[in-house]
Amino acid sequence: MQPEADSERRELMRQAACVAGAWLACGAAPSPVLGAARAHPRSLLVDARGDALPASRLATGEAYLFNYPYTVSPVFLLVLDRAVEPAELVTEDKRRYAAPAGVGPKRSIVAFSAICAHKLMYPTPEVSFIGLRKGSRGEPAQVIHCCGDDSRYDPQHGARVLAGPAPQPLAAVLLEWDAASDRLHAVGTRGGELFDAFFDKYAVKLELENGSGQRKPSGDTTVVRPAASFSRNWRSCPA
Ligand code: FES
Repeated sequence: MQPEADSERRELMRQAACVAGAWLACGAAPSPVLGAARAHPRSLLVDARGDALPASRLATGEAYLFNYPYTVSPVFLLVLDRAVEPAELVTEDKRRYAAPAGVGPKRSIVAFSAICAHKLMYPTPEVSFIGLRKGSRGEPAQVIHCCGDDSRYDPQHGARVLAGPAPQPLAAVLLEWDAASDRLHAVGTRGGELFDAFFDKYAVKLELENGSGQRKPSGDTTVVRPAASFSRNWRSCPA
């Protein structure tokens, strides 16, 4: 490997190994060239009553949803059954980035935008075609599967694309976990954000569903719900 490429790779993995959002603790902010990271206002993850949601209350293998960085942009929150290592990935426009390591007591909690990277299907209050499902043979135990056109993503490795037409991984949502309080904050994103395309495509639909198609930051807190109760109709994809 060329020295320059080698140094870029070391920088990527240094960023990924840092606790999400705690860039200062890692000695420097992420490189704008390599990181493809974007800071968004910090939001505390809370339960339906508005109380801080301890990471230890999340069930392993369950999918949860919250809205971040906007009030209408859904995010999967997952507790996987083992620690998640950082992963080096590439966006559709060829930007390399480091999907972050897992956070929490077992370093197994990750979050990804729930907007499919293909044609932007996403969970709505009415129906969801994209969700966490059991992996098929040869796949990881759990995959994020979009029934729209059968794109499958691997949550254990930064939501990289396993199969289907999606041109890039789901964008990672950066989480910060405080060991003393067991609280989780969402603090930014890394990878291929699709929010511009999302708001362009769904402005009218978002207005009908939520009373607003505008971008509003999710705010100081964002409510975490089990994915199963987020949408009234949870579609399973044909095998
Ligand atoms: S919209 Fe998800 S695979 Fe096409």
